[in-house]
Amino acid sequence: MSMMGCATPEGTARYGERFRDSAASDHFRHAQNLWLSSIGIGTYLGNWDETTDRRYIDAVARTIELGANVVDTAINYRFQRSERSIGQALRRLISEEAKFARDELVICTKGGYLPFDGAPPTDARRYVEDTFVHKGVANFSDIVAGSHCMTPAYLQNQLNESLANLGLSCIDVYYIHNPETQLQEVSHEEFDDRLQIAFERLEQNVAEGKIKHYGVATWNGFRVPTNAPGYHSLERMVGLAREVGGRDHNFRFIQLPFNLAMPEALVTYNQTLQGTRVTVLEAAHTLGLTVVASASLLQGKVAFGIPEAIRGPLGSLSTEAQTAIQFVRSTPGINTALIGMSRRAHVEENLQLTRVPPVSLEDYGRLFEQGAK
Ligand SMILES: NC(=O)c1ccc[n+]([C@@H]2O[C@H](COP(=O)([O-])OP(=O)(O)OC[C@H]3O[C@@H](n4cnc5c(N)ncnc54)[C@H](OP(=O)(O)O)[C@@H]3O)[C@@H](O)[C@H]2O)c1
Repeated sequence: MSMMGCATPEGTARYGERFRDSAASDHFRHAQNLWLSSIGIGTYLGNWDETTDRRYIDAVARTIELGANVVDTAINYRFQRSERSIGQALRRLISEEAKFARDELVICTKGGYLPFDGAPPTDARRYVEDTFVHKGVANFSDIVAGSHCMTPAYLQNQLNESLANLGLSCIDVYYIHNPETQLQEVSHEEFDDRLQIAFERLEQNVAEGKIKHYGVATWNGFRVPTNAPGYHSLERMVGLAREVGGRDHNFRFIQLPFNLAMPEALVTYNQTLQGTRVTVLEAAHTLGLTVVASASLLQGKVAFGIPEAIRGPLGSLSTEAQTAIQFVRSTPGINTALIGMSRRAHVEENLQLTRVPPVSLEDYGRLFEQGAK
């Protein structure tokens, strides 16, 4: 039995109320008529084994217990095991223990990469043939770079699989995963056509109640210069969404990497809004989209050796990881900093930040002055 429903304004506000006495101001942020925590759990890294499954089930449950209601995954993470682990954590918290309700939580996943099923198959081509080609889900000609597909039929199949893995009737944010991968093989014109029919299908799924919002989760697309082959224009993407969904289209989230070593979203003027150069964070704000940061710790690498000139303005926090996360969640325009956490100890360390307000704009500015010295 699926857990029914999705995140709602009332449910996410109720979740915030649970932490009224402990959560710092601006830990919960109002976005797309929901209350989202400034920290979310990601589930990308880790082995495809039962030990890691058990760790993620525990880490996701502990994250929700400690005050973060944003959970991020993708169907291909750990060969579908991350989605299934999240499904188990949710079942425990919602159905078995009745500690939380479905409408309090914002569950996000992605489709685009061809996922294996639990473990890598011995013959990958045969697996793709059996799972996708023979079933009419996708042809080899639909697959780009040997790994990526975003045709409407394929995304529909993947969305249905994600719902089953997560045990949900509705996903709050469904991202097309790294769409820039398509630009390795197709022109920008062809890419726009593909994205538009993908958005059209996602709008249909919103109408059917299978997803609440959709978006794109990118790695390079919003960070690279305008003339780079994998560049994405957010204004253009929103234009495509408006063409298929009207002014009230549901393309409302973007995800991009942002951390102390990858600050491009804040500092690179690679987007255009009605002819004016802006950053992607400014473009998203003006276009009414919510930005979620991935890789907040640069996959664990920026949790070590942060200089005092950066630690000070960020509040001289107890640990390097907390400092790195504080940078991301304090950045104007970033709603939620995702941190991959498969270990309870990391959840408990990082979630201490729910009690700490993000740094003021003044301190944030000081960070750049000092960092420049
Ligand atoms: N293109 C995309 O769509 C895209 C790309 C990358 C990431 N994402 C999303 O963003 C999420 C976050 O990114 P990420 O997982 O790649 O990288 P990350 O959050 O930058 O780093 C995760 C790594 O940091 C470790 N860690 C967590 N807390 C720590 C602490 N307090 N001290 C030391 N190490 C700590 C984790 O270890 P443990 O696992 O051992 O706890 C894990 O190895 C992903 O999980 C995924 O959901 C999306």
